[in-house]
Amino acid sequence: MSQADTRPWMDAGRSHDERADLLIAELSLDEMIALVHGPMPNLLDEVPADAARGAGYVPGVARLGIPPQNATDASLGVANPRKVREGDGATALPSGLALASSWDPDLARRAGAMVGAEARAKGFNILLGGGVNLARDPRCGRNFEYLGEDPLLAGVLVGEAIAGAQSNDIVCTIKHFAINDQETCRHVVDVQIDEGALRESDLLAFQIGIERGQPGSVMSAYNRLGGDWCGENDFLLNRVLKGDWAYPGWVMSDWGGCHSTAKAALGGLDQESGEQLDKQVYFGELLKTAVQEGEVPFERLTDMVRRILRSLIAHGVFDRLVEREEIDYEAHAQVAQAAAEAGLVLLRNQGLLPLAPGLKVAVIGGHADVGVLSGGGSSQVIPVGGPALEIPVTIGPSSAFSRITYHPSSPLAAIGQRAAQVTYADGRDLAAAMAIAADADVAVIFAEQWTTEAEDLPTLALPGDQHTLIAAVASANEKTLVVLETGGPVIMPWLDDAAAVLQAWYPGARGGEAIARLLFGEAEPSGRLPISFPRSADDLVRPEIPGMIFGPPVEGATIPTSYPGVQQHKGRFSVPHPEGAAVGYRWFDRQQTQPLFPFGFGLSYTRFVHENLSLEGGATVRARFTVANVGDRAGVDTPQLYARVKGADAQPGLRLIGWTRVALAPGERREVEITADPRLLAAYDVTAPGWRIAGGVVAVTLQSDARTVTLSGEAELEARTLAP
Ligand code: BGC
Repeated sequence: MSQADTRPWMDAGRSHDERADLLIAELSLDEMIALVHGPMPNLLDEVPADAARGAGYVPGVARLGIPPQNATDASLGVANPRKVREGDGATALPSGLALASSWDPDLARRAGAMVGAEARAKGFNILLGGGVNLARDPRCGRNFEYLGEDPLLAGVLVGEAIAGAQSNDIVCTIKHFAINDQETCRHVVDVQIDEGALRESDLLAFQIGIERGQPGSVMSAYNRLGGDWCGENDFLLNRVLKGDWAYPGWVMSDWGGCHSTAKAALGGLDQESGEQLDKQVYFGELLKTAVQEGEVPFERLTDMVRRILRSLIAHGVFDRLVEREEIDYEAHAQVAQAAAEAGLVLLRNQGLLPLAPGLKVAVIGGHADVGVLSGGGSSQVIPVGGPALEIPVTIGPSSAFSRITYHPSSPLAAIGQRAAQVTYADGRDLAAAMAIAADADVAVIFAEQWTTEAEDLPTLALPGDQHTLIAAVASANEKTLVVLETGGPVIMPWLDDAAAVLQAWYPGARGGEAIARLLFGEAEPSGRLPISFPRSADDLVRPEIPGMIFGPPVEGATIPTSYPGVQQHKGRFSVPHPEGAAVGYRWFDRQQTQPLFPFGFGLSYTRFVHENLSLEGGATVRARFTVANVGDRAGVDTPQLYARVKGADAQPGLRLIGWTRVALAPGERREVEITADPRLLAAYDVTAPGWRIAGGVVAVTLQSDARTVTLSGEAELEARTLAP
C-alpha cells in the first residue's frame, strides 16, 4: 500500500484543512492534549532525543508521522540565550530598528529567509520571530527587537520577514499580540485604549503583517488589554484575529503568559508554551478534565489541534522534515552586512563624511576595539565563534537571563584597514581620549546604550559619562563624529559639538565592517528613521514609564547602567493610552512638538529632489512623481507619502500612507508610483464595523520625513466602508 493509502493526510494533493481533519480523526484525547502544551526542553530532567534545545518543544506523534515542534527564538537570528546550546553560534542580524531603517521589504524578506534557513539547519521548525509591537515609548527595552512606530512600515516589513522565514518550510510566529509596549511590569500592565484607536495602530500592524506574511502562529502578549490577559482575551483572539481576520493558524502563549484553563481555551488560546513558567500546566491534565466535564467543548479542543496541524501542514513542516545541515555562515554574514549597511542612518554631517583615505583616526569608546553591541533577552544571538566580550548583568529583572554581549566585528579593525593610522582609547580616561583626539585628523566616538527584554530605560540620556566624553573629545577635535550603538532614540545635548552623527543601532554580525564602509564612502547612507527621536522625555505621552521606580546608578558597572531593578506592581494596574492611534510622529504632529530627529529622517551623501506630483483619487490614493538625484554620487532616496486623515477619535492626523525606495546614479531621474493602502485613509468605525472612508477631498503630501514636505496636493476619495 502506498503512503497515500495508509496515511492519506500525507497526500500533498489534498487541502491543508482536509489533511488536518484526516489526522484529527486518528488522534486519541491524550494525543490531542499532548499537542496543545509543551515545555522548555532544557528545563526537563531528561531532554528528549528529538528536542533541538530551543525555547520550546512539543512532542510529535510518531505513529502518525506528526513531527515534534521545536521552537527557537529568532527575531534577529537563531537565538541562544543563556547558551543553552553550548558552542552553537549563529548569524546575528542587526536589530529590528536597523532593519526597519532600511524601509526595504525585499531586504526584510532576505533577512527572514536567512534566519529561517539557519534555524532549519539547526533542527528547528518553529521560529519565534515576527515581533511587531509598535514603539509607543522610545524607552521600551525591547524596541530594538521591533520595527518602529508606524503600523504600515512595521506591518509590511514584518510580513516580508515572516514570508522569508517560512520560505524554508517552517512556521514563523508574529508576536506579541498585542500592545506589549513596555517591559516594566509587563505581566501585570492592563492597557486601556479605545478599540478604534487600537485598530488604527497596533492591530493594523499585525493585520498587515499577517496578510503579507501568513504566519503559521500568533504569539499572545504578556500584558492585559481592557482587563483580560492577552492570552485569554476573547476580543483580541476570537473576535478580531479569528473572527474579523479569519486567521486560520494557532495562537500560542508567551512563555509564562498562560493563566487559566477554561478561560484561556474559550478565550482563543490554542497552545500553552514554556509551561514550566506558568503557575500550573493549564493545558495538560487540567484541560483534559475540563473537556471531559464539558467545561471546554470537545470541538474547541479539536479546533485547537486543527489549527496547529493545519499550519504545520500548510507551511511544509510535514512534507519537508527539518534535517540538520551545514550552514554557509560566510554567505549569511553577507546578508547581515547588507542589512546593517541599509539600516545605518546618517543624522548629521557638517561636511565631515565620507572620510578620505590617508587620515589619522582616533577611535574612542564603545568597546570598538573588539566588536559591536547587541540587545539582551530571549532574542540574544551568540555569534559564530563566540562573543567578542560578555559583561554579566548583576541586578534587575533581566539579570536572570541577559549578558551584555558584543559581536566580534571590530569597528577599530575595519576603520584601521581604511585609514592611514588609527589609535584607540576606551573612553574611561577623559584626558587620554582627548589626547588621542587632539593628535588625530578625525575622532570617532562609539557611544552606546544597552537595552534588554524585561527592562525599560529610566532615561533617554546615554548612560554613564558619555555625554561628558563626547563634549570633551569634540572640544579637543572639531572633526568629531559620534556613532551611536543604541537600542533606540537617545537625547543629544552635545549635538551641536559633533561634526557628524551616525545612528548604527545594534548592527549585528558584520556591524564594524558596515560602519567603516559607510564612513569611508564605500557604502552610501540610505537608512531612514523608523522611530522619532524626541528632544526630551517631557515631550512623550507618558514622561515616566508607568510602574518604574528609579534607583541609583549601578556602582562600578563596566557599561554604565542605572536600571531601577525594582518593579513595584504585583497586581494589575491600568495604563491609559490617551494617545490612541497617535503613536510617535503622529503624536508629535498632533502636539505640534518639534522632535530632535523626525520619523523618516536620514541624510545621504548625495541630494534628491521630487518633481511633478500627480495624484489620483477614487478607491484609494495613487501618487506619481519624479525623483532626481541632483548630487554627484549614487544614492538611495525614500520618498514618503502622507495624508491628513480623521481617525476614529474624529481628530485629523498625519499618517504615512505609502513609500518607495529609489536607487539612482548621479544625475539620474525616475518616475515612480505609490499606491496607498486604503485603510490608512479610513477611520475605524466600531459600529459598522469596518474601515470607513469618509469620501471627499484629502490633503496628500510627498515628504522626505514626517516633518519635511517636498510636494503637496489633493485627491478626491469615494466614500466607502471596508471590512474590518
Ligand atoms: C519572550 C518571547 C519569547 C519567549 C521564548 C519570552 O520571554 O517575550 O518573545 O519568544 O520568551 O523565549
